[in-house]
Amino acid sequence: MSRQKRSKKNPYKGDRFTSKAKDEGYMARSVYKLTEIDRRFRVFKQGQRVIDLGCYPGSWSQYVLQRVGGRGRLVGVDLSKPALPKGHFLAQSVFDVTAEELIEALGGEADVLVSDMAPKTSGVPHSDHVRQMELVRKALELANETLKPGGAFVVKIFDGEEVPAFQKLVKETFGKTRRIRPEAVRQVSREFFLLATEFKGRPEAVQGEEEGAEG
Ligand SMILES: C[S@@+](CC[C@H](N)C(=O)[O-])C[C@H]1O[C@@H](n2cnc3c(N)ncnc32)[C@H](O)[C@@H]1O
Repeated sequence: MSRQKRSKKNPYKGDRFTSKAKDEGYMARSVYKLTEIDRRFRVFKQGQRVIDLGCYPGSWSQYVLQRVGGRGRLVGVDLSKPALPKGHFLAQSVFDVTAEELIEALGGEADVLVSDMAPKTSGVPHSDHVRQMELVRKALELANETLKPGGAFVVKIFDGEEVPAFQKLVKETFGKTRRIRPEAVRQVSREFFLLATEFKGRPEAVQGEEEGAEG
């Protein structure tokens, strides 16, 4: 088989992040997107409670489990369950999971919620964007319901027309947002990550406080 034919079948074959993931024992190359975000913005700390949406095959969970250490907790959600010795995994769609279940599995509210969720792509950029934004909005809904004040939210987004409205929504409940395109994202991809920090608290609590301040 020619080199050109092989790379068409698997765009990641021979890629340096794929080889690195194999050498370092990670389930997927996507781990290096999260390691870069963490290295630059110090997202994780020992002892934290973390939710990982779209966790299969498990490289983000592997990394988070190392970062939060023995006192930390991780709960992951995906249609398939990663084969990892540690962590608590729910094999179900994010649309069927509740905030209460996640908080119970963690033993308390979360410090960080990360989402690397993506639907199976069709190759049609607009429809892939629209379908992925449904997952992105669900991730924000769960972040608003499970994070403790001060918490952080990291979400993968395929860029497109729904992004500005989504970013506006994120700014309602988080003090700071940053748009990041890690080196491990392929050049041709419309993918980027939004890191939102300084969670203000559940939307109804924030609204209540604002009303109280005015009254
Ligand atoms: C890029 S992969 C995640 C890779 C993972 N972060 C890792 O490092 O191993 C995207 C994942 O999103 C998941 N996904 C797509 N739709 C989902 C849904 N409705 N609920 C939960 N997970 C979903 C897919 O099953 C897939 O495993």
